[in-house]
Amino acid sequence: MRTVVVTGAGPDSLGLATAVALRDLGWRVLVSTRTEPVEGFAWHPLDLASAASVAAYADWVTATTDRLDVLVNAGIHLDLRSTWTEAPLVDGHEIHWRTNYLGTAHLTRLLLPSLVTTAQRYDEARVVHVVSKLHERGTNEALFAGVHPYRSWVAYGTSKLALVHDAVSLTERHGGEGLRGYAVHPGAVFTKVADRGLETSPVLGRLRRLGRPLERRMLLTPEQGARTSVRCATEPALAPGYYSDGTAASPSPAAGDAAARTRLWDETTDWVAGQRPTA
Ligand SMILES: NC(=O)c1ccc[n+]([C@@H]2O[C@H](COP(=O)([O-])OP(=O)(O)OC[C@H]3O[C@@H](n4cnc5c(N)ncnc54)[C@H](OP(=O)(O)O)[C@@H]3O)[C@@H](O)[C@H]2O)c1
Repeated sequence: MRTVVVTGAGPDSLGLATAVALRDLGWRVLVSTRTEPVEGFAWHPLDLASAASVAAYADWVTATTDRLDVLVNAGIHLDLRSTWTEAPLVDGHEIHWRTNYLGTAHLTRLLLPSLVTTAQRYDEARVVHVVSKLHERGTNEALFAGVHPYRSWVAYGTSKLALVHDAVSLTERHGGEGLRGYAVHPGAVFTKVADRGLETSPVLGRLRRLGRPLERRMLLTPEQGARTSVRCATEPALAPGYYSDGTAASPSPAAGDAAARTRLWDETTDWVAGQRPTA
């Protein structure tokens, strides 16, 4: 049975809508959230910002299935209102970079052997990174030097630019073995992402609740937003690359920098190697 891992499948999320759509197509779907099980799915906790959690999740996936056709990676955007003046750090890394890029790249590298084995056995396997049009805010300089002065949208965009590079690298480096890399902008979607950062602001939280009906009408539903990921996960012979709002698109010019892409791949390989638990 075709098998997919979808991370970040909490209530109302793009991940959950993607998981439901793929399950409806008859796929076996493995999911994650950080703490709460997802009813109706094989689930294991995953915190992308923790190397130990990523390793435990990858172990669970490989113990659960010897076939992995597709990995759909989610992520976070924590400062939608752009109010942060300093970078919150996790393990010494800016939180979007640590979670969206390093965590996702770590998980993808750990699951690469399963993906490549599946590709060799069944002709192909795919990685779908859920990115954002805001990858356009990211810069190649910031991939290696961070964002100075700190602006959370640039940091978020840089984490997504890195994933656009990663999707291309996966195809370049493993396409011969049948692996295809996709980077997906889902559109503007009504999920919990816009609630992030409101926990500490009762006034803004109340305003958002009041504006919710209008917002809901203006944005895509999670099911509509998930369509691009589902297309990239399932459509036969779909060319790998960047897809926005359902169709193939051009990413930002920065994503075309092959030297940055190679350096990012090499530095990430070193970083992932350093995450191995010592005996
Ligand atoms: N919504 C949009 O309009 C939009 C537009 C462009 C791009 N995107 C991108 O689409 C992706 C999914 O966003 P969404 O809108 O579905 O957001 P969401 O509703 O906030 O969902 C994010 C999911 O990730 C999980 N998660 C949060 N922190 C995590 C961590 N450290 N490690 C692992 N999982 C974690 C959350 O579950 P728990 O909190 O339970 O762990 C939740 O299930 C994100 O990468 C976002 O940047 C969204």
